[in-house]
Amino acid sequence: MNTYEYPESRRLFERACHVIPGGIYGHFNAVPLSRAEAFPLYAARAEGARFWDVDGNEFIDYLCAYGPMILGYGHPAVDEAFRRQMQQADTVSLASPKMIELAEMLVDRVAIADWAFFAKNGADVTSYAVTIARAATGRNKIIAIKGGYHGTHPWMQPPGHHGIRLDDHAHYIRIPWNDYDALERVVAEQGDDIAGFIASPYHHPVFEDNALPAEGYWQQVQALLRKRGIVFIIDDVRSGFRLHRGGSNERYGFEPDLICFCKALANGYPISALVGTEALRTVTANVFHTGSYWYSAGPMAAAMATLEELDRLDAPRLFEEIGTKLNDGLLRIAQSHGYTLKITGEPSMAYYRITEDPSTILHQRWNAECTRRGAYVTPHHNWFVSTAHTDADLERTWAIADEAFAVVKNEGI
Ligand SMILES: Cc1ncc(COP(=O)(O)O)c(C=O)c1O
Repeated sequence: MNTYEYPESRRLFERACHVIPGGIYGHFNAVPLSRAEAFPLYAARAEGARFWDVDGNEFIDYLCAYGPMILGYGHPAVDEAFRRQMQQADTVSLASPKMIELAEMLVDRVAIADWAFFAKNGADVTSYAVTIARAATGRNKIIAIKGGYHGTHPWMQPPGHHGIRLDDHAHYIRIPWNDYDALERVVAEQGDDIAGFIASPYHHPVFEDNALPAEGYWQQVQALLRKRGIVFIIDDVRSGFRLHRGGSNERYGFEPDLICFCKALANGYPISALVGTEALRTVTANVFHTGSYWYSAGPMAAAMATLEELDRLDAPRLFEEIGTKLNDGLLRIAQSHGYTLKITGEPSMAYYRITEDPSTILHQRWNAECTRRGAYVTPHHNWFVSTAHTDADLERTWAIADEAFAVVKNEGI
């Protein structure tokens, strides 16, 4: 197989460094520049499950824009719904009726939802949810999970990150995932000042195996939070509508008070949503929160088309099928080279780790060699599949993975 080179990506990155701090920021950043030898930095075009970088290299994409691409890039029905709405009105001095239609759609499909609210990014709604919890209870503290990611507002970043102060965390208590006893202890000690509990429906941290909820965990958590009047917030930004058409809590059989959605909502068009229960309707109406583009109607139309298409395809079943098939193939190929690939989390957004390699260098090299052959992957974040990933894509990916394992095996790391 040909291995890719990225001269144009590197040239653009050097140009970017003059005018953009760090060249590329956040989770798309170039990380150490050495990564740029194996990974492309700029995309020129995308279609279905593939994108092409600025050097003309073609990739099967297993990052799916870190989640938002759920139906394939350039999905015709979603793009058409967006275009039609944009021809009429997008960001205007008044809200759009599309906002009501989309809210009705979410209220219909999400069992706990009596209302919906829209913003742009995941962090817009996770931070709003926390503020609502405080307003609803008159209390200060929020319990979250160690390693849980909810965005980049100061309270969401680990203490010690640049610019983050200890007092940004003064009212946040982090407990381990799946540890009901830890929750019970914190609630027993500080329950009268705990406003809310926020967690993703299953644990998908970076640099760590992902973990599903233990049997009965969510039901115990729900019962305790209800008893103590603590607002129960689920951050379904990453997995929402992938695991169940009504939200991931339905998959695991529990009922939060507030749910944050984002990545799978509009196939890449910018929109996020918070939905909640009747009991929190009035307080939500009173908590001020808004943004310059939050009433933009184009993404709302795209979201409606996306949800319809997800239903038409019975997408959660399809994601599970595609993810499981991909993973079974990768496990088999790893084994044939004498490696154990540990695959954790839900199959459609699984986390991968080669167990023989505590340093993770071999795992990084394997990811790099896969990417240089056209399967775009990343070593320390979960991957994603979309409904656009075909059997032919999986077969090609397995061939790439096979060759990449042979290369790293030869290196003798
Ligand atoms: C679980 C979870 N919550 C919140 C966020 C923050 O979303 P955004 O980056 O759109 O603000 C993310 C983003 O990756 C996420 O995965």
